Amino acid sequence: MKVSDVADGRTAAASSTATLAYQTGFGNEFATEALQGALPVGRNSPQRPAYGLYAEQLSATSFLAPRALNRRTWLYRIRPSAKNAPYRPYAAHLWRSGPVEEVPLPADRLRWNRFAAASRGTDFIDGVATLCVNGDAAMQAGIGVHLYRADTSMTDRYFANNDGEMLFVPQTGRVRLATEMGVLEARPGEIAVLPRAVRCRVELPDGPSYGFVGENYGMHLRLPELGPFGSNGLANPRDFETPVAWYEDRSGDFRLVTKAGGRLWECDLDRSPLDVVAWHGNLAPYRYDLARFNVMGTVSYDHPDPSIYTVLTAPSDTPGWANMDFVIFAPRWMVAEDTFRPPWFHRNVMSEFLALITGEYDARADGFVPGGVQLHNAFTPHGPDAASYEKASTAELKPHKIDNTLAFMFETRYPLKPTRFAMEAPERQRDYHKTWDGLAAKFTGRK
Ligand SMILES: [Fe+2]
Repeated sequence: MKVSDVADGRTAAASSTATLAYQTGFGNEFATEALQGALPVGRNSPQRPAYGLYAEQLSATSFLAPRALNRRTWLYRIRPSAKNAPYRPYAAHLWRSGPVEEVPLPADRLRWNRFAAASRGTDFIDGVATLCVNGDAAMQAGIGVHLYRADTSMTDRYFANNDGEMLFVPQTGRVRLATEMGVLEARPGEIAVLPRAVRCRVELPDGPSYGFVGENYGMHLRLPELGPFGSNGLANPRDFETPVAWYEDRSGDFRLVTKAGGRLWECDLDRSPLDVVAWHGNLAPYRYDLARFNVMGTVSYDHPDPSIYTVLTAPSDTPGWANMDFVIFAPRWMVAEDTFRPPWFHRNVMSEFLALITGEYDARADGFVPGGVQLHNAFTPHGPDAASYEKASTAELKPHKIDNTLAFMFETRYPLKPTRFAMEAPERQRDYHKTWDGLAAKFTGRK
């Protein structure tokens, strides 16, 4: 698919004319061309690619990464990415990168209400507000957790993140990513992942939009191992969707904002960077409908560890200690006998950022609202509030469906340091600790 546009590049949302079309599978060796014959056959870098295109390889893993982990894609484009003017600093507004030392890392549990909307006329780049961060983008370890609040599609500027891949979790409004590899869209209840350094234009077809981004500085996200589950279950590979090749041939006065080294930079471009006519490889953006997640759970007793709800994981160098897990709490049946069914009280070495997309969370009677956020850092004790405990410990244990709800968690091995924006936000619930005040001693000394 192709969009030819006016020379001044001012036509809004050029990708809105693109028909969304996807290829299925996770990490496949995809091959797609918007013009017949644009993909070379039998080689990657012919002396003269068809249609006068330039060949360019984008590698997100080192050349020597094991074959099963290697991620790279060959792009056949109208002009090579190398053609751009020098960068100048661009104001990061509220976007932060690890390491962040704006405020001390509190030992408290933290919770926020839904954050206020952005001012009108804000696009995605300017609408990002970082909530918490760990690690170091330059060391390729850690994550950034961001809120985005925006109402305006990008039209004459583009974005790339050299620091990390980005997992978009929309809460209000669709997010449409017009990328070098094609156009994909995610609505609330779906996610989209943009690999690091892939250039894109973020469009908001529904106007005012609100959501979250997990920025993963570490090894790329992948599907978790299934272990004794066998060969199926959780997020099934065939349900991931990657766009087909699409390009626009737009010349004009454009800007490219690039995140690199923890900072934002801006340069001028004389054309759209979304000029890839054909590509092949296994490094590409993808989307996933969270309603397709095959939820596993107990059919006898006890509440399993929430690792069974992992959709995607980005490992660290230590087996089992993820740099970032993306975990969802989706609609599911609860059938366990003689069991306290909500998540138990716990203290974990892993740090948890939890946000509610829709509905109610089963361990919270109130105060945790859609668009709201909880941050439970390493070893901070948490669990159901007093009202939820009373309800769950006295409930008749018949099969019960938790329905019309969706929450997600970014879980990470490193404590998440909140930003000054997050700690000083009026939306922070400064009395969150009182949630557990009503948990009285029930000990009687008798069995
Ligand atoms: Fe937890």
